[in-house]
Amino acid sequence: MTVSAPVGVFDSGIGGWSVLREIRRELPAESLLYFADSACAPYGDRAASFVLARSLAITEWLIAAGVKALVVACNTATSAAVAELRARYDLPIVAIEPAVKPAALQSQSGVVAVLATSRTIEGNKFSQLREQYGSEVRILAQACPGLVEQVEAGELNTPATAALLRAYVEPLLAQGADTLVLACTHYPWLGECLRQIVGDDITIIDPAPAVARELRRRLADAHLLAAADTAPEVRAVTTGDPQRFLTQLHALGETSVPVSGIALHTNAELIEPGRILA
Ligand code: DGL
Repeated sequence: MTVSAPVGVFDSGIGGWSVLREIRRELPAESLLYFADSACAPYGDRAASFVLARSLAITEWLIAAGVKALVVACNTATSAAVAELRARYDLPIVAIEPAVKPAALQSQSGVVAVLATSRTIEGNKFSQLREQYGSEVRILAQACPGLVEQVEAGELNTPATAALLRAYVEPLLAQGADTLVLACTHYPWLGECLRQIVGDDITIIDPAPAVARELRRRLADAHLLAAADTAPEVRAVTTGDPQRFLTQLHALGETSVPVSGIALHTNAELIEPGRILA
């Protein structure tokens, strides 16, 4: 494996780009290959077995494409698949998970709230975190159906999105939560809208910067960090409509990322390289 190989990053859609953004800040010399499973988004209300099958197929695709490490930029996929991915594949794997620990450390009120997909809230990973930190703070869990769809549709700060967010968040604040954990990688894109609703006194935690730092450690341990003078390449593939993904990227201020459309069958056989758009 060469140090100039890309790091693979995947999510159900555009959400995990919030993790990619932090990786680029932390590791500007790394080439990145982003996989958006847009044809199957959202993952959050689907069966765990479905998310597992997609995560395995995506990982095999990324490995075949030559990635040197993998970032699971999707809490739902972490919950459904990370143990299996680590058991099967011999490359550094860094996976995002709900940031309950830093939230427990920071909360003054002793009440923290986790915003996530239904699948993440029901998953083992979150139960473990709840068990681990539930004696230190009260942990409120809020599944947020509909928010991922708003982000996928580019409705980052519209009245409909604000109404949905308000309905999820206000009851949590009423119960004394002073710290909100964004446990879905789509939600940081709603940060501005959320801040307008909760005001300045509430702490909002996005674990993406911690994931980027962990990736740095893992690449360094494996002697896989790209040389500082490398010209990195950042590109994306999507199982959905590449033109739509390009539009989503543009809405996030990304105007020079090439996007290709691919087909990925869940039995992990692929693959039709699609059109390349820039
Ligand atoms: N962004 C993903 C997560 O962190 C998936 C959301 C979804 O597809 O429902 O959970």
